[in-house]
Amino acid sequence: MEQSFIMIKPDGVRRGLIAEILTRFQQKGFTLRGAKLMQMEQALAEQHYAEHKERPFFPDLVEFITSGPVFAMVWEGEGMIAEARRLIGSTDPAEAAPGTIRGDLAVKKSENVIHGSDSPESAEREINLFFQKHELIETGKNS
Ligand code: CMP
Repeated sequence: MEQSFIMIKPDGVRRGLIAEILTRFQQKGFTLRGAKLMQMEQALAEQHYAEHKERPFFPDLVEFITSGPVFAMVWEGEGMIAEARRLIGSTDPAEAAPGTIRGDLAVKKSENVIHGSDSPESAEREINLFFQKHELIETGKNS
């Protein structure tokens, strides 16, 4: 079964959206395999966003993602990576459809509430970056 790394960003945590977002993923039928509230350090932020390193917004992105706690999660389900991105909506909330998390809960591209892995390779990389094996519940143990 496919897994994706999903993270509620500092704006989402600050605005009290953890429960709302958890509910959306649970109601869709996905299974939570791991979750933690954590403060990202600069080095982890730079690693996580390495693909954006050359972009002009990179320093602001790192500053924003380290500006407060994030809520990191691993979700599992059929077609999890693509399905999560459908639930989340377009990167720019102005273009995200109503009914999606960003469409309903965000207004700014730079503070778009939530991150979801964009490919199986990113999911594997990001899960390993944020979680140790013992922090994740094995498939079949909580579903
Ligand atoms: P996400 O796709 O989760 O990860 C990269 C983030 O960079 C993206 O969300 C946006 O929040 C942010 N981002 C992408 N493009 C821009 C931009 N042009 N200006 C500011 N932030 C951006």
